Amino acid sequence: MASDTVYRASTTAPVNIAVVKYWGKRDAKLNLPTNSSLSVTLSQADLRTLTTASCSARYPASEGDSLLLNGEPSDVSGARTQACFRELRSRRAALEAADPSLPKLSTMPLRIVSENNFPTAAGLASSAAGFAAFVRAIANLYELPASPSELSLIARQGSGSACRSLFGGYVAWRMGDKADGSDSMADQVAEASHWPEMRALILVVSAAKKGVSSTSGMQQTVATSGLFQERITKVVPKNMELMEKAIAEKDFPAFAEVTMRDSNSFHATCADTYPPIFYMNDVSKAAIRAVETINANVGRTVAAYTFDAGPNAVIYYLEKDTEAVVGTFYHVIGDTDGWKKDVLKGLKPTMSLDEGVAGILKNGVSRVILTGVGEGPIKTDEFLTMQTGSSR
Ligand code: DP6
Repeated sequence: MASDTVYRASTTAPVNIAVVKYWGKRDAKLNLPTNSSLSVTLSQADLRTLTTASCSARYPASEGDSLLLNGEPSDVSGARTQACFRELRSRRAALEAADPSLPKLSTMPLRIVSENNFPTAAGLASSAAGFAAFVRAIANLYELPASPSELSLIARQGSGSACRSLFGGYVAWRMGDKADGSDSMADQVAEASHWPEMRALILVVSAAKKGVSSTSGMQQTVATSGLFQERITKVVPKNMELMEKAIAEKDFPAFAEVTMRDSNSFHATCADTYPPIFYMNDVSKAAIRAVETINANVGRTVAAYTFDAGPNAVIYYLEKDTEAVVGTFYHVIGDTDGWKKDVLKGLKPTMSLDEGVAGILKNGVSRVILTGVGEGPIKTDEFLTMQTGSSR
């Protein structure tokens, strides 16, 4: 019976870590940013969200749309999730209106089941991968003829940074200047294969939930920081230009300097917020000192740190410098979850760090993640159901 049919589609989506940060909204309702940003998409072998979207006329209308996240029912009534549902449904409804032979999927309740392949205890913000997978899965289910950039317009309304997870490699989110947000979307600056040697070492400092959420922190910065104006009008436009050039030329020292300066600039505007917001702690600061020591000892810039709205350090480096970067951190931190045997194999401890810095890192880093640049969302035939979706 046609009415019994369950339509379904699955996708995976990656995490991205910005090297020029998004911080500030010019329109909170449409989720429009005060500046452009640029990120590296990380490999889904290590960090990804898998999402299945399904719809059926036999799903009770009274239950409405639902979302199961890592095995737990999750609220879908928030304005951002509702905006994503609405945008996707209206695009499907337009297809159905143009071709009456299409099944009326837009009228059916949606069930979304989503799981991360990394432990929640990793303390990584998963909203970027989560909303990107959510939007991509429903777009696949609805067979929307939309490009990743078009879908990024929708994912942006779920969470700003999610719009960059619709692509692999090196990705820019152009702030746009239209009031309706129709030009505030992501595009790919370079494929992962353009610069595949890019690696990331993530030092998980704390799995605790963030003190101040990004959404509220950036609103406070926009409202109270004087320094913020300098950042959005001068610092970021210059950093975007320098970063795109560094990526095009595969110039790691330039990439690294902009990455570190932009992270510092973002956290400076947080400190300039009134009352101030501090995301980095002593362990984060020790990671900065360690990166500086490594670069000084090698005699060139081989590592770059960056921090989001929390204390975890993300350290970018090139594969050829694994020994200097990973070898040094492994030597200091020692055995903890996340080190990979094949990456550590044959690495010699080439340098030592200041004792104070080493001690703070050893005690403060609870796990590490070794990963690298990777691809965008991938359609898959692996389906999660309300029954099999399990918590990890
Ligand atoms: C520091 O995308 O989480 O990670 O749009 O309010 O959901 P909302 O904010 P969100 O902010 C991310 C901020 C950041 C920098 C970045 O990823 O560019």
